[in-house]
Amino acid sequence: MVIYFSGNGNSKAIAVSIAKTLQCECIALEGELLINPEQKEIYCEDNIIVWVFPVYSWGVPPVVVNFIEKCRTKTAGNCVHHLVVSCGDDTGLTAQQWRKEINKKGWETGSATSIVMPNTYVLMKGFDTDSKELETKKLLESKAAIQHAVKRITTECTDDDMLKGRFAWIKSHLIYPWFIRYAMSPKPFHSTEACISCGKCAKQCPMENITIVNGHPKWGNRCALCLRCYHRCPVKAIGYGKATAGKHQYQYPEGI
Ligand SMILES: Cc1cc2nc3c(=O)[nH]c(=O)nc-3n(C[C@H](O)[C@H](O)[C@H](O)COP(=O)(O)O)c2cc1C
Repeated sequence: MVIYFSGNGNSKAIAVSIAKTLQCECIALEGELLINPEQKEIYCEDNIIVWVFPVYSWGVPPVVVNFIEKCRTKTAGNCVHHLVVSCGDDTGLTAQQWRKEINKKGWETGSATSIVMPNTYVLMKGFDTDSKELETKKLLESKAAIQHAVKRITTECTDDDMLKGRFAWIKSHLIYPWFIRYAMSPKPFHSTEACISCGKCAKQCPMENITIVNGHPKWGNRCALCLRCYHRCPVKAIGYGKATAGKHQYQYPEGI
């Protein structure tokens, strides 16, 4: 079984491709399952669970941590958990954090592999989507990287093959907790006068955190900061304070 969380399609594409190769079920963490993980028991017939999600500030996205903590799973037999993360640049010690969360549940971990994908983070100075050239290069190279990750799963690897980057400890142990505490607020989200009241942002939010009030989106408090609302707005009418001025949009291209 593959369980994935994806804001803008990168991790989804990886998850779907892995599930297709392994011929197993693929579950999206969206809506009710993500908001109330304890509500529904997940039954896994296979002897492996592959977790796929994007790296957030050199760690596991808080919504995924919450899901792992609270979810109820039933497996047919002994089950090994593998990790395949997508990142724009590097992962820091994301695998270490994921192993800790999985072990806390009494579950066994196998391989952890990272795959570089186009960047989606645009909310700070100096951060924007990749150039078209880099985006194309990353997408092309990801095909082989996915097959490499599958091979590591099927050959029962138990080690990390992660692009940790420099200063991994500082990024994951100092910046990650700071980011979770101070840089994940949905408050700066707003829509501009370009908004056409199409409601796409509300319909597509994986946390069901956006409502349309007087024709404009209003953000609640349970934001995953996945940026799907920002990237998928058809008229680029969503901003985050002043941080997104002049920035670009990205979503995993359909049909590649
Ligand atoms: C809130 C946030 C934080 C991110 N932090 C990192 C990071 O620490 N390192 C990195 O390489 N990419 C980072 N990224 C980029 C994503 O991990 C990357 O683009 C990923 O492939 C997006 O996957 P998705 O399309 O499934 O959401 C971040 C993206 C977001 C939205």
